[in-house]
Amino acid sequence: PLPQRFRVPLPIPPVARPVKVTAGTDHYVVTQRAATVELIPGTKTRIWGYDGIFPGPTFRGRRGRRMVVTVRNELPVPTSTHLHGGVTPAESDGFPTDLILPAGYSPAPPGHHSAAGRHHDGTRDYHYPMTQRAATLWYHDHRMDFTGPQVWRGLAGLFLVTDEVEDALPLPRDDRDLPLLICDRSFGADGSLTYPQRDMTRPGADGMFHAGIFGDVILVNGAPWPRAEVAAVRHRLRLVNGSNARRYRLSLSAGTITQIGSDAGLLATALPREDVLLAPGERCDVIADFTGLPAGTEVTMGNALGEGPAADVMRFVITGPAADDSRIPERLSALPVLEKTRAVTERQFDFRFGGGRWTINDQPYDPAATLCSVREGTVELWRFTSDFHHPVHVHMAHFQVLSRGGAGPDPGDAGWKDTVDVRPYETVQVLVDFTGHRGRYMLHCHNLEHEDMAMMANFDIV
Ligand code: C2O
Ligand code: CU
Repeated sequence: PLPQRFRVPLPIPPVARPVKVTAGTDHYVVTQRAATVELIPGTKTRIWGYDGIFPGPTFRGRRGRRMVVTVRNELPVPTSTHLHGGVTPAESDGFPTDLILPAGYSPAPPGHHSAAGRHHDGTRDYHYPMTQRAATLWYHDHRMDFTGPQVWRGLAGLFLVTDEVEDALPLPRDDRDLPLLICDRSFGADGSLTYPQRDMTRPGADGMFHAGIFGDVILVNGAPWPRAEVAAVRHRLRLVNGSNARRYRLSLSAGTITQIGSDAGLLATALPREDVLLAPGERCDVIADFTGLPAGTEVTMGNALGEGPAADVMRFVITGPAADDSRIPERLSALPVLEKTRAVTERQFDFRFGGGRWTINDQPYDPAATLCSVREGTVELWRFTSDFHHPVHVHMAHFQVLSRGGAGPDPGDAGWKDTVDVRPYETVQVLVDFTGHRGRYMLHCHNLEHEDMAMMANFDIV
């Protein structure tokens, strides 16, 4: 039987603390390990987690302060950690073959990309310069061929970047600023996480799972359909879709939602929304306004794309009125609109099933190959076409959506993005800004099963 809905209090993952603070840099250590935890009340679940918890600890980065995160792998498998949405140097980007081998494991695997930052004791240092604007990012495993099962087992967490622009805004903060990592999982009767592709030595999923792997339990911050007691005031909800394959259309049964940010930070101006659509990997920052709702009101966050229990996500229970000095300012941030005329090149990337694999431009992923070279500091127009739902994610470079299906962008395409929901037989055009770092990066489908079945490609920034 499925766990009861709206019983478990909403957990908030603990914030990671630096182990060492030097002039411009904060140093962190996080250990990937197996642990037994209680996700479903009364049952025990074996997970793989950063610091043995799921979600992993929340990192708080500050624009202008460098971070070094040492990841230690105490799991029985190789791993690679990607900071999703991070403007990260290539050696620290969590390339699928830049593996952290379990301690004592040797030698280097074939196709090994770069040894920079990697030690031989099962650890690796990831350098995050934190030159980017405030945003809701997340981190997760990115191991070649096995990202789906490894994230499913728990290797994911939140990473929030703050800056002075955001600090100056009168937005809800502290316990009224709730990061919500939403994902679906399924559990065996003994509480074990089930991933229907049992054989962990073979990449990808069997034919019947070509659409990706879905669970029948919706978890928010690791708790099944949790409940949160909240005052009848504005709250900031940082919605993150950490699911392997499930898309959500989220709405509240009472109160209002106003979008203030997307994948890569604050919008220019706030955007009232009826609901928000989130494909795997996408984020949406909203203000939920519960003002005026009577004590005891139950506000359910629903998912219009889910059936049965998957149509519910979590519940807010209103405790009563409280003082609220937050507001949603007219102007949120300076957000230059990229003009199409700035694009120095146009390229097309076709996401399609072919030859038994998920491919980009007919090529299954080859870690040693590259599809194109782009110049650092330029803007390009990239056109994504597809035969199915493919959430397309670009590493390092953020983009703005120019058009969708021949029309203008959807409301949910606003702002700086790193992941865009490309729907079946739709063409989405984006303007990508390659300012940041040089080196080998990738774009891929963020349906993790598609990703594991080769729907990835490299590009070089030169
Ligand atoms: Cu969130 Cu390349 O991934
Ligand atoms: Cu896909």
